[in-house]
Amino acid sequence: MSVTHIRVAVVTGGNGGIGLEICRQLASNGVSVVLTARDEKKGSKAAEDLQKSGLSDVIFHRLDIADRSSVRQLAEFVKTEFGKLDILVNNAAIAEQPLI
Ligand SMILES: NC(=O)c1ccc[n+]([C@@H]2O[C@H](COP(=O)([O-])OP(=O)(O)OC[C@H]3O[C@@H](n4cnc5c(N)ncnc54)[C@H](OP(=O)(O)O)[C@@H]3O)[C@@H](O)[C@H]2O)c1
Repeated sequence: MSVTHIRVAVVTGGNGGIGLEICRQLASNGVSVVLTARDEKKGSKAAEDLQKSGLSDVIFHRLDIADRSSVRQLAEFVKTEFGKLDILVNNAAIAEQPLI
């Protein structure tokens, strides 16, 4: 399948919790997933585990959403690798205040 027919997603905070499950669900539905997080070891392992489970179209790239240069590096990577981005799941966040 040519790259223009593949949907490409970036998921922030993808190495655990809700973000990891979002990566799994997207990849299970034929989306090419860039799983991102700050912790490279945990991120690479999460992507590898998904690949081993049969979801080969998942790659890890480091991203700290609070660091502009890290965001630029990811944007360059996506542009070079895929030439487009179809889905952004900005899951990583810090809850500073309790909701209630
Ligand atoms: N779980 C809940 O009940 C609940 C309820 C309401 C809202 N939420 C929201 O849902 C989202 C996910 O929740 P979760 O429970 O799955 O969280 P989690 O298990 O704590 O996972 C957070 C993820 O975000 C990454 N992360 C943290 N800071 C980051 C940064 N500056 N840049 C990039 N990645 C960063 C972490 O990886 P690294 O540390 O390696 O970067 C990790 O992958 C959060 O936005 C949370 O506020 C969760």
